Amino acid sequence: MGTINSTIISGAGAIASIEPLLADKKSILLVSDQNIIKLAPVKVLSELLQANNRHVSIVDNVPPEPARDDVNQIMGKLQGAQFDLVVGVGGGSVLDVAKLLSVLCHTSAPTLEALLAGEKPSTRLASLLIPASAGTGSEATPNAILAIPEQQTKVGIISPVLLPDYVALLPELTTSMPAHIASSTGIDALCHLIECFTATIANPVSDNVALQGMFKLFRNIENAVKDPENLSAKLEMLWASYYGGVAINHAGTHLVHAMSYPLGGKYHLPHGVANAILLTPCMRFIRPAVVEKFAEVWDLIPGSDQQLSAEEKSCRLVDWFGELVEKLQLPASLEALGISPDNVPDLVDGALNVQRLIKNVPCPVSAANIQAIYETLFTQGK
Ligand SMILES: NC(=O)c1ccc[n+]([C@@H]2O[C@H](COP(=O)([O-])OP(=O)(O)OC[C@H]3O[C@@H](n4cnc5c(N)ncnc54)[C@H](O)[C@@H]3O)[C@@H](O)[C@H]2O)c1
Ligand SMILES: [Fe+2]
Repeated sequence: MGTINSTIISGAGAIASIEPLLADKKSILLVSDQNIIKLAPVKVLSELLQANNRHVSIVDNVPPEPARDDVNQIMGKLQGAQFDLVVGVGGGSVLDVAKLLSVLCHTSAPTLEALLAGEKPSTRLASLLIPASAGTGSEATPNAILAIPEQQTKVGIISPVLLPDYVALLPELTTSMPAHIASSTGIDALCHLIECFTATIANPVSDNVALQGMFKLFRNIENAVKDPENLSAKLEMLWASYYGGVAINHAGTHLVHAMSYPLGGKYHLPHGVANAILLTPCMRFIRPAVVEKFAEVWDLIPGSDQQLSAEEKSCRLVDWFGELVEKLQLPASLEALGISPDNVPDLVDGALNVQRLIKNVPCPVSAANIQAIYETLFTQGK
């Protein structure tokens, strides 16, 4: 667990508040991707960074679901350049890479291979993270996730050193998200919140932020997808996502994320899409172990029947998750995404490799259980 000391700037129109943070900065590395760098608010940000003769180097080719080799290639191109601030603006893929670059561009950094082998970084360059999706909550977590295609999974480099100095939650940056990205990244935030709330190592801090995050998410996810110019819903989703990240910092995700890693790491499914497919069957599996907690979450849904028994509330919550994924028009079957039932044994191995998350599942879970859940993903939604 890391202490989050980030200063947060938030709100529509708050972009100008970034200027005072740049007072002593001369050389900035701006990290982004090909879609984000073209956005009008990012042009405004880039001009703001370049004002007062500051030198700005731009990395604008971070791919979705970045792999180890992508980071190595970026480092190769930077060729030892020195910066005094790293600014990441983008979805979780960009933010994770920006976090790693804030460590790797420091003169006393370990190599990426050493970080992947478990060496912990001790320091980094100053960093500012600006999420464009809502989202991974990467701006509030000590994690940076990289795909390792040859191991058919993803690996988390985890250290509180990765937490940024500054975070800006700017809703104007998220209005350009296509509906399918807004919905899948929103479901990723929901997975962070509900998994952390039910994790074996959940504590009162993670419980409180998870409940607060779900309160916001349940009220805003559909509006934020349907009405992208609704800046209030967009800002609430950024906060829900941020709270998801804070909850990860204190507790951690479990079954959905463990089972989603091989779908992203080997089959390149977008992280939020993989999580959306897994959310309902995984929640159905853990439900008997977390009836009271699910009942508490049910009570946060606007208009939910508060008179039901805890058992009934917990069952209705699982169904409600399924309906939400359907309403957001996210895929419900793996077959439609080009994955075959023959791939299940590989997927089971990949999920079991993520022991750090499997240990966090609130009930015993065997290889046979995981296999049975993957098998449902070929029939659900049909
Ligand atoms: N560090 C963490 O704690 C953490 C947590 C969860 C997930 N992740 C990682 O984050 C990555 C996924 O991040 P993501 O779900 O945010 O997706 P992403 O960053 O891969 O973005 C998906 C696509 O959406 C586009 N996009 C994002 N925001 C946009 C905007 N405002 N306008 C237009 N296009 C936009 C991107 O350009 C990209 O093509 C995965 O690698 C996942 O493993 C990290
Ligand atoms: Fe996630």
